[in-house]
Amino acid sequence: MNVMMIAPGYPDEMPLFVRGLALEGAAVIGVGDQPEGDVPPLAKQHLAAYVRVPSLQDEDGVVKAATQWAKGKKIDRVICLWEPGVLLAARLREELGTGGMTVEECLPFRSKDLMKEKVAAAGIRIPKYKSAKSAAGVRAAAKKIGFPIIIKPIAGAGSMDTYRADNAAELKTAISKMGHIDEVNVEEFIDGEEYTYDTICIDGKIVYTNIGYYRPRPLAGRSQEWISPQTLCLRDLDLPHLAGGHQMGHAVLKALQFKTGFTHMEWYRKSNGEVVFGEIAARPAGARTVDLMNFVSDIDLFRGYAEAEVHGRFTANVERKYNTANVFKRAEGTGRIQRIEGLDRLRARYGPHIVHVDLLPIGAARRNWVQTLLSDGYVCVRHPDLQTTMDIADAVGTDLHLYAG
Ligand SMILES: Nc1ncnc2c1ncn2[C@@H]1O[C@H](COP(=O)(O)OP(=O)(O)O)[C@@H](O)[C@H]1O
Ligand SMILES: [Mg+2]
Repeated sequence: MNVMMIAPGYPDEMPLFVRGLALEGAAVIGVGDQPEGDVPPLAKQHLAAYVRVPSLQDEDGVVKAATQWAKGKKIDRVICLWEPGVLLAARLREELGTGGMTVEECLPFRSKDLMKEKVAAAGIRIPKYKSAKSAAGVRAAAKKIGFPIIIKPIAGAGSMDTYRADNAAELKTAISKMGHIDEVNVEEFIDGEEYTYDTICIDGKIVYTNIGYYRPRPLAGRSQEWISPQTLCLRDLDLPHLAGGHQMGHAVLKALQFKTGFTHMEWYRKSNGEVVFGEIAARPAGARTVDLMNFVSDIDLFRGYAEAEVHGRFTANVERKYNTANVFKRAEGTGRIQRIEGLDRLRARYGPHIVHVDLLPIGAARRNWVQTLLSDGYVCVRHPDLQTTMDIADAVGTDLHLYAG
């Protein structure tokens, strides 16, 4: 099977998916704008071919280069597991006649307007919202919805350019920061806890489920540098307070007629138990969350996904043994990493419950924590008990220090 994969080298997880697909017997044709020499070795090793395009942002250019390359060859699948390329993959599927989800079917996973429209039409609770294209439009929407509100781009990701406003003064500040955005969604602010609902599906049938939990809520974690944000994957999916999210996840996938691949939905749970839809993407969760899912069950979902995509089956043993958490760290100070403190003590204290450490090395330049949740690195911990997992994650948050200068 020939699988064309957009962006095989970026973000970090993509080479692992290339490997999974190749191990499942696919010939993977990578399409990317990195020079071939910059494609990470793991991806290169498992790619059957690489089509270099000038820019993945230039849709027409990619379509032209990819269709030209594919002339006289048979492409069976086109995939993209990275948010900005999801629609491009759909368009290529149409151009190459491979079948699979069309542009029209993928649009509701990219446009937050269309997404909410379709989800609401299926009777699912979404935040009250309005779209707006100007400062005046945003103010009018705020008036209609009432404070507190959220303002966010209609095709955003990773909480970028997302603002909360609790009153007219904060709205004014938000609008002044938003200059470059041409269409936004204004939403009722949902006060609650934030969870995910992740799946792998085959022809619309859910074959793998995960529920994640953000501590604190992503927008809060993205607003304060001192916070070490945590993403958790929960061992016990049958906890009573998760039932509403489960049901919503099923209903949303059905409403949007998702077919095959990974999905990543976010949902809110209010203190009164009400469950509200957040958003959904037709790709796996980022920021090394697939690794977290793997550590829950000691499996390889990079390959599990590939098995679903290539063979239409899913055979991993998904017994859930651990709660897992990634703790993302931000160094204190600017410039390059000078010192890392506390890791030895944490390792001595928690031993096997610290399963992976991936921090920037001494001398490396700090990453932009606003732009990447990965920040200056992360530590992955796990434990069968949820509270203990959170306690260990909190200890990593408070007792591990990276210093830059
Ligand atoms: N209506 C809302 N009520 C409360 N918080 C929200 C709302 N919309 C967005 N947020 C906050 O902003 C974050 C980013 O918004 P989201 O819709 O998930 O966009 P993306 O993750 O694609 O940037 C959410 O995780 C949440 O913390
Ligand atoms: Mg989100």
